[in-house]
Amino acid sequence: MSKICEITGLTQSQQDKWPLSHSLMIGESKLKMENISASSTEELSKDILEFVSKQEVSKSVTERKEGIIKHLKRRFDIKFRGSKLTTFGSSKSGLGLRNGDVDLCLEFSGEKPKKVLNKIARMLRDDGMEDVTLIAHAKVPIVKFVDQRSKIPIDISINNSLAIYNTNLLKTYSDCDSRVRPFILAIKQWALHRGICNAAYGTFSSYAWTLIALHSLQTSNPPVVPNIQDGSKRTLKVIDGTEYDITMSDKPTELLMDKNSQNIGELLINFFESFALNWPWDEKVLSIRSGKNITRNSKKWKQQKPFIIDAVIDEHNVRLGKHSLPVEDPFDTMHDLSRVLRPDGAMEIREEFLRAFKILSEGGDWRKLTETKFPELVNDTANTDLFEDLRKMESQDVKEILEDLQSELSVLESEIEVRNSERKNAIDMSKALRKNAELQKAENKIANTLKPRREKIEQVKKQRDSVNNNYIPVHWIENEMSKVFQRLTEDVDLMRAPSLQKEKELFSWFFELQSMHEHSKKTRELHGEFKKLLREQKTALFELDNVKESGKDISVLGDYANFDDLAHRLLLEMNPMHTEKRKLKREIGRLEAWLRISGRKGGAKKNHHNKKRSKKNNYSKKRDNINVAEVKSRAAAGGSLSLSDLDTLLSSGGLSSITKEQTKEDGNRKKKSRKKNFSPHRGNRGRSKKGM
Ligand code: CTP
Ligand code: MG
Repeated sequence: MSKICEITGLTQSQQDKWPLSHSLMIGESKLKMENISASSTEELSKDILEFVSKQEVSKSVTERKEGIIKHLKRRFDIKFRGSKLTTFGSSKSGLGLRNGDVDLCLEFSGEKPKKVLNKIARMLRDDGMEDVTLIAHAKVPIVKFVDQRSKIPIDISINNSLAIYNTNLLKTYSDCDSRVRPFILAIKQWALHRGICNAAYGTFSSYAWTLIALHSLQTSNPPVVPNIQDGSKRTLKVIDGTEYDITMSDKPTELLMDKNSQNIGELLINFFESFALNWPWDEKVLSIRSGKNITRNSKKWKQQKPFIIDAVIDEHNVRLGKHSLPVEDPFDTMHDLSRVLRPDGAMEIREEFLRAFKILSEGGDWRKLTETKFPELVNDTANTDLFEDLRKMESQDVKEILEDLQSELSVLESEIEVRNSERKNAIDMSKALRKNAELQKAENKIANTLKPRREKIEQVKKQRDSVNNNYIPVHWIENEMSKVFQRLTEDVDLMRAPSLQKEKELFSWFFELQSMHEHSKKTRELHGEFKKLLREQKTALFELDNVKESGKDISVLGDYANFDDLAHRLLLEMNPMHTEKRKLKREIGRLEAWLRISGRKGGAKKNHHNKKRSKKNNYSKKRDNINVAEVKSRAAAGGSLSLSDLDTLLSSGGLSSITKEQTKEDGNRKKKSRKKNFSPHRGNRGRSKKGM
């Protein structure tokens, strides 16, 4: 049974985990600021500036980042027409550590954001990116992935416009004074290495720490930076139906009255002192929008139950009441950055402030201050040197690996080509069979019209003939009628007047012609219809011949659905081959680049032995050995493994092959995996570094 403190209710292990907080709670804290000499603050400043100088991202990594962004832009241009890809976060503001992620925002209104993210995740997996994860239920849903070559982590969000504005705000603050960037990086480094910079694990996000650090620079005496959101002329912006005040001064430096001349060491000591001795969050909210602490009451952000101490005592309660350590977002002022905190996380934060102050007040240095507590939470894997593994190799070996990869690529390409042409054939066959089926339908349709039309022709013919068997052309009758009519109605020469008999005959002839005219007209109509039907019948027979002619007898080859299925299967087979092809091409490109560079610089070791070796085995072994050793040591350290890592591990003897020497070899790493249990997170939470 562990001993429980009667005052705080903390168990013995909790007291051991948070000794400084516990002493403070029971009123036994001995923390106070010793006299810190000017030389020690200068020493601290020097160490911080040296650390900051190492945070510059190398040219090759910058190029790599730009290359990835360019590649993504090209892919998104095709997939999401009219979209825009923008970089934000620390890689834009310059307030990032060397291994920070790249935050990208895709502005696109054509489809729902979650659907777009799903498509992006699929696309990235097809492109062979590692650890593609879709975090759909966060405040801002994202897809995260890792670029396999450089290990640069990348987050993509959709229509995250406010983040673009707040990045701009942070950048403007950073440009106000040369101490802002080193100060913020120092706080981020401390928070990251002390395990309290991970929203997914219940501590503050990197962004929240940036705001906390800035707030300290606004409230120092005199301030290092002004409140640049001040001003009478306000700029309002509606985003997703909500109006935000995104006012920002264009001449921020003119807002400062007095000049603060403290060095970074002093600023950092003041920072920890104020949090350790005057914990602000009992009564206040940190607000860079206001440039000072504002009261919880004015913000209506009363701390809600369960409070931190009650929540950590209750071991089943992982939830923490709202507004535990409130930090207001500068634009989304209803957003409290402490909403992600969990009880243990909040306790860790308090303990770390006390520890930092204790170390500094006792003359401890930067290294002690930022000692790594949970190595697994620190992303040290970003390969800032794209050619690290190649540097140790003889250039002849690199060339041989290159040749090996090139021949692997050409085999793969011909395999893809074979499948491609098989697939094309299958598609052609399916099309032909489908066309045949359609032609058959057309043939039946035409044939079905022939019989009824034939009957109709017979019927019309009969009718026509019955109306007037002696068919006399209408125009002749009309001529005759007009002649008779003329004779009947012309002026009469009295000397030659026709006899009555003659006149009667003429009249009777006229009436007969009239009747003949009517019959003949009917006959003409029926004859017209008869001719039309005959024409139609002829056309139909002609079409029928054509259809029969074009529909070759390929139905014996089977159903078109079978060929569709074959084409689909071949496509599925080719997908991983394409991924592999892209991987090979990338690696070939890297080796070629290295050989070019090292050729120019004479960088790679030259192979003077000129030995004839069993080619294939030697290259592969060399490459694989480096890989296997790296994967095994990562597995031994409890680090994360991708599927291809597992594959490497299994094909080299599985987990049991991780020898004692290997684990012993890296004592620190072994400690890492043991220490894991004491980390501030609980349960099986996602291992993603960033959260909300
Ligand atoms: N962001 C935000 N609200 C949050 C978290 C993040 O608006 N609750 C935005 C901010 O613009 C922030 C960006 O998302 O700059 C990226 O967040 P994150 O990666 O946590 O911070 P970075 O400043 O990029 O830090 P890092 O160098 O660790 O990547
Ligand atoms: Mg970031």
